[in-house]
Amino acid sequence: MDFKQWQCVDAGSEYCPCYLAEENDCITCTQLQGKSYCDCNWRGVCIYNDFYFSENKRKDTRTAQEFPILDGKVVNDIIILSIQVTKYMARVLKQPGSYVFVRDKNNDYFFDVPISIMDSDEEKSLIKIAIEVRGVKTKKLMGYGDTIMIRGPYWNGIFGLDYLKTTKNDRCLVLARGIAQAPAILVIKQLLKNNNNVDIIVNKRANEYNFVNEYFNLDSIQEVDMGSNDVAILCKRLMEENNYKLIFIGGSDSLQGKIIRSIEELNQAKFVTTNNNAICCGEGICGACAKMNEDGIWIKTCKVQRVD
Ligand SMILES: Cc1cc2nc3c(=O)[nH]c(=O)nc-3n(C[C@H](O)[C@H](O)[C@H](O)COP(=O)(O)OP(=O)(O)OC[C@H]3O[C@@H](n4cnc5c(N)ncnc54)[C@H](O)[C@@H]3O)c2cc1C
Ligand code: FES
Repeated sequence: MDFKQWQCVDAGSEYCPCYLAEENDCITCTQLQGKSYCDCNWRGVCIYNDFYFSENKRKDTRTAQEFPILDGKVVNDIIILSIQVTKYMARVLKQPGSYVFVRDKNNDYFFDVPISIMDSDEEKSLIKIAIEVRGVKTKKLMGYGDTIMIRGPYWNGIFGLDYLKTTKNDRCLVLARGIAQAPAILVIKQLLKNNNNVDIIVNKRANEYNFVNEYFNLDSIQEVDMGSNDVAILCKRLMEENNYKLIFIGGSDSLQGKIIRSIEELNQAKFVTTNNNAICCGEGICGACAKMNEDGIWIKTCKVQRVD
């Protein structure tokens, strides 16, 4: 397997080097994998050098902190919260794929639930999140109070971040189903910032918010039922007509598979998708998010981006 295919989303951040470096399990640095040579494709500050000059110690890890909830509402089974955070947090959570772990302050740490940043306002130090109530962890958030515990920032909520950040002046397609509209907001903002022409297909389920319409007043937003195969046929037709360079799919693995299978033969677009894996620690330690790749190697999907 070529380790250079995988890049750690935290590399070069203030959380790098991490526990993995201390245990000779660094995702990026061969020296910090216990090898005796340098062979990484990381172009930022040398991780080994940083580790060496910090007396072979990792940087401090993210810890949960209590933040005030400035505004909150529940619409059917979706909780929408605006949270006052620090300026630093609002700034680093502005990039697509950002997420945090949230929990009620009266609950134990194992109620932590990964939730995408829907929007972040650096000037006001505010973040906005939308939580769909599903099971034990999210039900506990229904009774939210004046504050909430937040652990973050984390950034690997989306695969294909490199494509997303480097696609400019092109035509792109965004598909977002249900609560996956939340991470789609920062994706659309990034694509528009890079002067792309963006077509958007949203599938809100009954009684759900159409977040995308609320944020963007674009003519190019259409609503389509993504439950059936029709969406794959529609995407193929749109792809042939518009020659998209990038397609974002926010939704389940099965939705992603259905759409990718229908258009990959056209071999024109880069795919960017939501990370739907179960994420528990977010630090590459617990293994909850691990997926076996085609070479039979376990990949910690909470940390890793594939790079070509
Ligand atoms: C990076 C990321 C960003 C997310 N962003 C949002 C968001 O913005 N809004 C939102 O409503 N949901 C989001 N989710 C999904 C959310 O984390 C799960 O719905 C939540 O963890 C369910 O927990 P539960 O105990 O309420 O339900 P459960 O009954 O435990 O599970 C319900 C469903 O959620 C999945 N799930 C359970 N625990 C996790 C976990 N730790 N990580 C991922 N999936 C899990 C289960 O596989 C199952 O499909 C995100 C997940 C990830 C990984
Ligand atoms: S969530 Fe724990 S290793 Fe990825």
